Amino acid sequence: MKRITSPSEYQQVYQESVQQPEKFWADVASDFVWRKKWDKVLEWDFHKPEVKWFIGGKMNITENCIDRHLPVRANQTALIWEPNDPQEEYRSITYQELYDQVCRVANMLKNHGVKKGDRVCIYMPMIPEVAFAMLGCARIGAVHSVVFAGFSSGSLVDRINDAGCKLVLTSDGSFRGDKKIDLKSIIDEALLKCPSVEKTIVYKRSGSSVKMKSGRDFWWHDEIKKATSTCEPEVMDSEDLLFILYTSGSTGKPKGMVHTCGGYMVYTSYTFQTAFQYQPGQIYWCTADVGWITGHSYILYGPLASGATSLMFEGIPSWPDMGRFWHVAEKHRVNIFYTAPTAIRSLEKAPLSFIHQYDLHTIKVLGTVGEPINEEAWHWYQEHIGRNQCPVIDTWWQTETGGFMISPIAHVTKLKPAYATLPLPGVQPAVMDENGKELTENGVEGRLTLKFPWPAMARTIYGDHQRFKDTYFSTFPGKYFTGDGCKRDEEGYYRITGRVDDIIIVSGHNMGTAEVESAIDEHSAVCESAVVGYPHDIKGQGIYAYVICYDKPHEEDKLRSEIRDLVSKIIGPIAKPDKIQFVSGLPKTRSGKIMRRILRKVAEGETSNLGDTSTLLDPAIVDEIKSGAL
Ligand code: WT7
Repeated sequence: MKRITSPSEYQQVYQESVQQPEKFWADVASDFVWRKKWDKVLEWDFHKPEVKWFIGGKMNITENCIDRHLPVRANQTALIWEPNDPQEEYRSITYQELYDQVCRVANMLKNHGVKKGDRVCIYMPMIPEVAFAMLGCARIGAVHSVVFAGFSSGSLVDRINDAGCKLVLTSDGSFRGDKKIDLKSIIDEALLKCPSVEKTIVYKRSGSSVKMKSGRDFWWHDEIKKATSTCEPEVMDSEDLLFILYTSGSTGKPKGMVHTCGGYMVYTSYTFQTAFQYQPGQIYWCTADVGWITGHSYILYGPLASGATSLMFEGIPSWPDMGRFWHVAEKHRVNIFYTAPTAIRSLEKAPLSFIHQYDLHTIKVLGTVGEPINEEAWHWYQEHIGRNQCPVIDTWWQTETGGFMISPIAHVTKLKPAYATLPLPGVQPAVMDENGKELTENGVEGRLTLKFPWPAMARTIYGDHQRFKDTYFSTFPGKYFTGDGCKRDEEGYYRITGRVDDIIIVSGHNMGTAEVESAIDEHSAVCESAVVGYPHDIKGQGIYAYVICYDKPHEEDKLRSEIRDLVSKIIGPIAKPDKIQFVSGLPKTRSGKIMRRILRKVAEGETSNLGDTSTLLDPAIVDEIKSGAL
């Protein structure tokens, strides 16, 4: 894979990738093992929509993630696993061991009747076995659907039924900080409503007592013993399904995003190596859960397809104390650290001594993903974790895009705080105004679309191609609509301003909630904020801000006027919040996303009908917010 080593080289490679995309991607793809080379690189039509990459190519992603590394890396660590409890032994899994384990799981699945194309639900904690499970499915061409182990049984039912899963891989329970969660009993409850599931295989992790239903439930430890450690990879078509991963939509029903084998492999590996400038031998740590796309693409497939050493962490950043991330980074001499702004902001609250007691000098590159990162958090991250020596790689992408789209290239791209910066090679963004006109100049603001396909893009929504078309290809015909707003500055740098469904129109002015939040967060007393619109007699919409402070404010009104003045200073008087409610927390999903739906309802004065709050990390926070509503 050709490395990009300077801004001018980036410009050159980028131009080539746009002028001759098929040649560009064919060159990248030729680094991988194909059982049969593709006949044609790309066929596409965003009106249908239809996208196919490496047509006619035959391959298996696990052969590329594992087998092909064995001649040189059999004894290199593929995965490092750090347990929830720091007292427990960590595990290192070499590429050879990964091969054996993945083949065993593949054979175990075969022994239980799983065939190419069958859907397998994976509902497991962050343990190496979840990686073996995903790769084991891919080895035999079964389609995995990982459901984040923080989801409740209702969410499981929807996802299992939508995909028609035949088998579930799970565990007795999981650990999260000082809590133990009984996963098997959640599965038991779900399976009462999932007729397609014939069997479950249960890995023993927590030691919780479980009920095993005879004929349906099997212990992993028994079944894996019956499976041998070699399994020929199923030869897959480039466009065969690799996995389904559910993401929330604007309606209640989750969307099963479908990713296929060839393009996804090429793209996740290329973007991993390019954005982070991964060097062989480096230890890379992404703190995401494998239940999200970040875990799929950048704990597992991208790094392994690149022969990297990837660390997976079972625990949480705040247990046993707020220094856990830094402890793990020191312990495993982590070189590349990739996390989410929400984690950064929560760790910012802790005394610096939690960082200073650890030696973080091995860290060379920092990454962030998941939401716009405010400037203050960006600077804090770079100064305190990066010691002002590491680039902050703000990667903008989505479950639907499969991999990084707009992101700096480490040590190459000139950084700009809170900017995702420039499109990676092969990525062609277009900024649109509300009337569907492309804004071709720099120094513009609008809706972010993509006008050319990239290899890892989702191909459809499982079982609902019409919804795929309606959601992503209808707003701006001929373009993929991301749902995000963005700015492109005079230098062509992109700043993602947040979902356009979070845009507030105040007195006819568009206001990105993320923009207002970022301004509020600049106040030294403020830790985090969330802004929503609410109906306002004169302005159309007013701005309602929920604000978390480091310490409970003594003089609330004084602080309110300081925040208003600050926002006025940073964005303009039009952006001044009309209402500021101080709260101790925000309603967040387990992936760290703020549930704005709830905040909007409370801001609108609605307190009874708040919809489903069961997927919140801390449902109790809703009561506090309701009772303090202004
Ligand atoms: C949405 C996608 C991509 C993996 C995790 C989230 C927001 C994501 C950034 C970023 C600003 C970001 C966007 C996007 N987002 N990364 N670096 N800067 N916003 O995946 O759950 O599919 O969410 O997350 O709004 O559309 P997801």
